[in-house]
Amino acid sequence: MGLLSNISRPANRSPSSSFFIPRFFVVVAALSFTILLFFEVDSFVQSFVSSTKTIAGHNLEPTPWHPFPPKPSSLDQESKYSVASKILQCSYLSCGRSTTDNTSQHNPPKHDLSKSESCPDFFKYIHRDLEPWTKSKISARHIMGAQNFAAFRILIIGGKLYVDLYYACVQSRAMFTIWSFLQLLRRYPGKIPDVDLMFDCMDKPTINRTEHASMPLPLFRYCTTPAHFDIPFPDWSFWGWSEINIQPWEEEFRSIKEGSQAHSWRKKSPIAYWKGNPDVASPLRMALLQCNDTEMWRAQIMRQDWGEAARGGFKQSKLSDQCNHQYKIYTEGYAWSVSLKYILACGSVPLIVSPEYLDFFSRGLTPQKNYLPVRPSDLCLSIKLAVEWGYGHPDMAEAVGRAAQDFIGNLTMDRVYDYMYHLLVEYSKLLDFRPRQPPAAMEVCVDSVLCFADENQRRFLRKSLAFPSSSLPCSI
Ligand SMILES: *[C@@H]1O[C@H](CO)[C@@H](O)[C@H](O)[C@H]1NC(C)=O
Ligand SMILES: *[C@@H]1O[C@H](CO)[C@@H](O)[C@H](O)[C@H]1NC(C)=O
Ligand SMILES: *[C@@H]1O[C@H](CO)[C@@H](O)[C@H](O)[C@H]1NC(C)=O
Ligand SMILES: *[C@@H]1O[C@H](CO)[C@@H](O)[C@H](O)[C@H]1NC(C)=O
Repeated sequence: MGLLSNISRPANRSPSSSFFIPRFFVVVAALSFTILLFFEVDSFVQSFVSSTKTIAGHNLEPTPWHPFPPKPSSLDQESKYSVASKILQCSYLSCGRSTTDNTSQHNPPKHDLSKSESCPDFFKYIHRDLEPWTKSKISARHIMGAQNFAAFRILIIGGKLYVDLYYACVQSRAMFTIWSFLQLLRRYPGKIPDVDLMFDCMDKPTINRTEHASMPLPLFRYCTTPAHFDIPFPDWSFWGWSEINIQPWEEEFRSIKEGSQAHSWRKKSPIAYWKGNPDVASPLRMALLQCNDTEMWRAQIMRQDWGEAARGGFKQSKLSDQCNHQYKIYTEGYAWSVSLKYILACGSVPLIVSPEYLDFFSRGLTPQKNYLPVRPSDLCLSIKLAVEWGYGHPDMAEAVGRAAQDFIGNLTMDRVYDYMYHLLVEYSKLLDFRPRQPPAAMEVCVDSVLCFADENQRRFLRKSLAFPSSSLPCSI
């Protein structure tokens, strides 16, 4: 409103200087000028509001390759003036005068060269994921090709993050994924190279190795398969999943591990347990419902209704209360599922139904050592046989559960950031051009994300704020 009253002031002043024009005409002229100005400003605000895309999903259509019901962002319920002022404040005025950027003074990084640990074994897949471009390098043409499959583009230039938005992502995946890049920049200030990359936030890999054999496109997403070029990257839930109240990873891990210690493994119920959403277009999860018989199949299959859980304040759905069984089943959903790390955290024996999709860490799991594989054909029988093997070998079974918990416990946020670090460093070495800010890309910083986040999201974001590391990244 302040904007409008300022603009109309010169028009009100004009009568004093026009002594020989009849006052009436002056008033009419001034009035029309004001009205004209009002409509000009009004249509400017209208077009500003309806053309600016935001990381809250405002003005973005769902991805055409995976449509989902668009959820109106909280912005869409406000008047266009308050939306315009919010966009102006969050997108254009937040970065540069950072209030959350005082960490480096607080905690000056003291790099201790002797203390660089070696990275977990699965970091070797970074080289395998990037292998398609070691000869050809990644050109601007590769990036523009990948844009056809991307929801947004991430650029890091001189330690600053720029984002170009193309499509909306389900829930707050885009916001939390962009946040994850910002936290990496905070964790290793001055160490993250310039990169230009395309990211898709939906579940299924899309860059088929056969179809794209002549020109592999580099596209980041949360999972991949051996038949795809997609490059796996840590998913948003490591920074929290606000919609279903899953806390940032280290806090959630601690609470699950504590919950799992309520009973020793021997005292847990000697069956295989699964709780989740079977209605995700997954034939495997439908098949799993048939195994719900503790006598015949040694399995209990429970339905998780997240809508109901949300209405009940998530009291009944705490993951830390779901570690009361000696065996826990993991099945993929529509593609990979973020639930794997929570299942491994339980200390129960993971029964993993042979996965098709792989995320960045699941490639580090070893059958018989930290999980028992289960065949998708003959699913119920396969579950029963695994559980009954454990009845005959309780020490070995207990050890598998413990190894699973150790494996995932070793995947601290330090290691998650290290994976992102090494992946981006190796990726940047392949770029055959210098990343430059495209005109449409906007700078995004911690304050601009916090500015667009709603109150609940902000709680998760603040909790997962990263601080400069006092040690070097692990070495590959
Ligand atoms: C920044 O510094 C202020 C005062 O020194 C402190 O209260 C605040 O928590 C700091 N912010 C962060 C993100 O560390
Ligand atoms: C990849 O494309 C080929 C050829 O179109 C097709 O036969 C194959 O099933 C696809 N693979 C996947 C994993 O979709
Ligand atoms: C599985 O069986 C249990 C116990 O009989 C029952 O409470 C539960 O609702 C069943 N699960 C499903 C998904 O039907
Ligand atoms: C976890 O990390 C420790 C220390 O680096 C290592 O000794 C141990 O083997 C790791 N455990 C697993 C299961 O990877």
